[in-house]
Amino acid sequence: MSKLTQSSSWKALEEHYNEIKHSRMRDMFVEDPQRFEQFSLKLNDILFDYSKNIINSQTMAQLYQLAEDSELGSWISRMFDGEPINNTENRAVLHTALRNRDGLPVLVDGKDVMPSVCEEHERVKQLAESIRTRAWRGYHDQPITDVVNIGIGGSHLGPLMVTEALRPYSLHDLNVHYVSNVDENHITDTLEKLNPATTFFIIASKSFTTQDTMVNAETARQWHVNDVGNDSQIDKHFSAVSSNVKAAKAFGIDEKNIFQMWDWVGGRYSLWSAISLPIVIAIGSDNFDQLLQGAYEADKHFKTAPLAENIPVTMALLGIWYNNFFDAQSTVVLPYDQHLHKFPTYLQQADMESNGKGVNRQNQLVDYTTGPVLFGEIGIAAQHAFFQLLHQGTKLIPADILAPVSNFHCIARHHRALMSNVFAQTEALMKGKTEQEAYAELKAEGLDEDTIKALLPNKIFPGNRPTSTFLFNSLDPTTLGSLIALYEHKIFVQGIIWNINSFDQWGVELGKQLASGILQELDDNEPTKAHDSSTNGLINYYKKQRYINNKEDIS
Ligand code: F6P
Repeated sequence: MSKLTQSSSWKALEEHYNEIKHSRMRDMFVEDPQRFEQFSLKLNDILFDYSKNIINSQTMAQLYQLAEDSELGSWISRMFDGEPINNTENRAVLHTALRNRDGLPVLVDGKDVMPSVCEEHERVKQLAESIRTRAWRGYHDQPITDVVNIGIGGSHLGPLMVTEALRPYSLHDLNVHYVSNVDENHITDTLEKLNPATTFFIIASKSFTTQDTMVNAETARQWHVNDVGNDSQIDKHFSAVSSNVKAAKAFGIDEKNIFQMWDWVGGRYSLWSAISLPIVIAIGSDNFDQLLQGAYEADKHFKTAPLAENIPVTMALLGIWYNNFFDAQSTVVLPYDQHLHKFPTYLQQADMESNGKGVNRQNQLVDYTTGPVLFGEIGIAAQHAFFQLLHQGTKLIPADILAPVSNFHCIARHHRALMSNVFAQTEALMKGKTEQEAYAELKAEGLDEDTIKALLPNKIFPGNRPTSTFLFNSLDPTTLGSLIALYEHKIFVQGIIWNINSFDQWGVELGKQLASGILQELDDNEPTKAHDSSTNGLINYYKKQRYINNKEDIS
């Protein structure tokens, strides 16, 4: 039995769960008209309403006690102070240093990292601004019209999500494209519309060894060299962001176009580093500074707000409440802002690669569930796709809802329709529809008793489905920075309470290892016997069909 599940706060929560598990939120709202005031928090212009959760004040007090007992306060300090809390890699976890706007030193192994952070941000801004102002020229002395970021995982999802989210802040005559998939369709579809003379590539890879990125980078390089006729113009069209400067140079990238990353920034937490280069090219330095400022505001809040007023702590504890006590296996993120359409995908990596762990910090198997399956979609689209399951399915899936009070274009007709759905869905998920209410509706439609009897079970909504809602004034860079950082810290808090290391990702290694061996086997058309019968069967079918199709050049 683990220390966590044996702790007094955990046991108290188990007892409390048994007392509260059949409580109905709709009754709680009737009993306590102050519920919204009691269970909502604010950070600047971000409102976090968590009153539509299956909680009461005792639940929250006990959850905050759990956080207290996990020594959360001391872990927060240890992270911000640069201690090597990524224990399996013996690394500090300092994405917060990348948006540390107070100018105070942050020490790693006794050395202040802030001068190099600021220097790298400055270099990124200089390059970005020279492309934005058309001072940077391609090899035909033309300005850059298209930037292609080649990267995957954290070297892709963060920048892509932010670029999409802040689209209204972007230059209209400068396109930023993202290529991640090693499937040739991704890069060929992207490049076929572009002109090599006005295209600038960013090879974004912390390791500079990731297969998908390297294969795509080679293809991009070849496309450029084919056009120029030689490799003499690479310095005008290629840059890299990596902690492996040697490999980036060996690829042929000019040192002045290589931006540094540090081992204390995890890939999925790296959008604040030079990995932001495509973001800064798209939205400009001032807006990027606002993004950093928003994250810094959330960092300050996380560090200083008491637990019961702390938004990421509260988000994390609600997640644990459902995950570990209600046995909810998943959680859904539903932005009601089209520009946040990549936010759920981004959060999938941030959350699932961080907390999808089964071994604790003492290298033992855990005996409780950890990170949930996170999925999501634009709320409006999801309503017409999978909300059926949220409302009437057999699974409890807590939802996060995010919506702007004002939209960028201020078309009231659209925005009111959008927001009516936000409010209606959170109410419907919470209240549901009782048998009596459903009966009365069917009766009012004039249906006969037999038809009503048959239809009735289908018309009942169980309700009591939890939602937490973020309302923010508008999706500006500052707000976006804060929202991202709040989620990062939520993930951190959960990792601390689950006693796991949220900052390594050993689980991605096995597939990579096997793929590199299988890649060699695909060099010829000889059948393989090296694997289990399924894997052999699939490989051999592929090789045979490839031969028959005669499309694959294996030379
Ligand atoms: O395979 C997972 C992973 O290592 C992620 O953690 C990371 O964000 C991604 O691959 C890309 O890695 P890199 O930036 O080193 O190419």
